[in-house]
Amino acid sequence: MVSRVIPVEPFDLVVFGGTGDLSQRKILPGLYRRFWAGQIPADSMIIGAARSEMDDAGFRDLARAAIMEFVAEDKRDPEMIEAFLARLGYVAIDAKGTGGWAELKKRVRKDVVQAFYFSVAPSLFGDLAQRLHDHKIADANSRIVVEKPFGRDLESAKALNAGLAKHFNEAQIYRIDHYLGKETVQNLMAVRFANILFEPLWKSEYIDHVQITVAETVSVDGRGAYYDKSGAMRDMVQNHMMQLLCLIAMEPPYHFDPDAVRDEKLKVIRALDPVPADDIVRGQYLAGNGQGGYLEHAEDAASKTESYIAMKVHISNWRWKGTPFYLRTGKRLRARASEIAITFREPPHSIFDDAEGWRENVLVIRLQPNEGMNLMVMIKEPGPGGMRLTQVPLDMSFAEALGEDGADIPDAYERLIMDVIRGNQTLFMRGDEVEAAWAWTDPIIQGWEKRGDKPKGYDAGSSGPEDALMLMHRDGRRWREIRE
Ligand SMILES: NC(=O)c1ccc[n+]([C@@H]2O[C@H](COP(=O)([O-])OP(=O)(O)OC[C@H]3O[C@@H](n4cnc5c(N)ncnc54)[C@H](OP(=O)(O)O)[C@@H]3O)[C@@H](O)[C@H]2O)c1
Repeated sequence: MVSRVIPVEPFDLVVFGGTGDLSQRKILPGLYRRFWAGQIPADSMIIGAARSEMDDAGFRDLARAAIMEFVAEDKRDPEMIEAFLARLGYVAIDAKGTGGWAELKKRVRKDVVQAFYFSVAPSLFGDLAQRLHDHKIADANSRIVVEKPFGRDLESAKALNAGLAKHFNEAQIYRIDHYLGKETVQNLMAVRFANILFEPLWKSEYIDHVQITVAETVSVDGRGAYYDKSGAMRDMVQNHMMQLLCLIAMEPPYHFDPDAVRDEKLKVIRALDPVPADDIVRGQYLAGNGQGGYLEHAEDAASKTESYIAMKVHISNWRWKGTPFYLRTGKRLRARASEIAITFREPPHSIFDDAEGWRENVLVIRLQPNEGMNLMVMIKEPGPGGMRLTQVPLDMSFAEALGEDGADIPDAYERLIMDVIRGNQTLFMRGDEVEAAWAWTDPIIQGWEKRGDKPKGYDAGSSGPEDALMLMHRDGRRWREIRE
């Protein structure tokens, strides 16, 4: 299968924080890969902006090093790299200062798509928006891209939204949640809404429960003090996992249109029940395998921030009443694996006498690694031993099914930046969506803060705290094994 690369319109993209970690690891390599693929017109410009004094050549050197480090060798074509670097420029600017803005104004053209990527701390979003406006650099057609974290509670998210809304309307604002740019995450919508097969069964009548797992093996060593201010709930659940839950649970939008999709996701968030303390398990990884534990990495022996969370969530609407969604995410777990598992109910009646080996159907959507889908179905055990049943996977790896293209899926950032240039907001979070997510999250966090709950320790390389197993056991269910 050959994927089609449709070039975007010529653009000027200003990357504030262009010298930072995200820019070097994701944004610049991602832009290069799109250039290499023929999606970026040759007359586009990418302008880095940060406080460091540097000229265009210096920024090109930085970008060249980033490409050499983060782009696969088979795409590192020296001529292509030089052609890409020729499209790069740099302006030294302090988001809070006055210098550099006149120079930036001269560089940004009015007759091409104009986008400003705020790859800086959220505390600078308002300053950048204000100065782009004051210096008449951005106008009603410009787009701005903002990074996570979008606030740490409802109040701060509202303040960020208000700061941006002073000078930009909602249709100009692209809030990135890179999870939404992942191929498999978008496939969730394709699987649900482009096949007749699943949708009739997609409700509590036929679905027993849903498990959403985002497991990481990495610790927070090296950025523990920073991570300790957020924790798994703010860092993963409020944004990425809620987005996954929304895509699984939402009603079919009338059209694959940004606001139609986001309206449906918002309805799911608003239908989420508050989560009682008994349905939440929080954990901190312990020292092990020659590495320190969470408390050492967080540089605070008394920290009550969680590096793991598991919770049971209910959605109060007609479709999902009675089907719990179990979410879990954590650091330093046994494998790096993200998946959504939809467990169907048992058939209402068995015609087979021997029910041994009987299992429910499970649809597993693997987000990483080895993106794909797996449907566990019952078949007859082969051989002459009578009608015995066994469960087998109908397994589809996207990489295998799609051939070369399946193995060459663009990184989430590449896709999302191209969507910004195309002006397609479907995969970006709307302001009201972010606020609704915080409105659900805040009381949960306040609950454990008020109670003074201390997270349970769990072994490094394990599946999380024992209590998380109990969260499902007491409902007569089991977590799926965490494995790559
Ligand atoms: N890194 C990641 O993997 C990642 C993932 C998700 C989200 N994010 C988010 O992306 C944003 C950037 O993260 P990062 O990891 O790239 O941070 P970083 O490595 O600390 O880079 C910050 C960038 O902002 C610039 N900067 C700082 N203060 C500035 C100012 N007053 N005016 C203009 N530029 C200024 C810095 O350059 P100068 O010091 O030269 O000014 C640098 O280029 C943050 O909001 C972060 O939460 C990052």
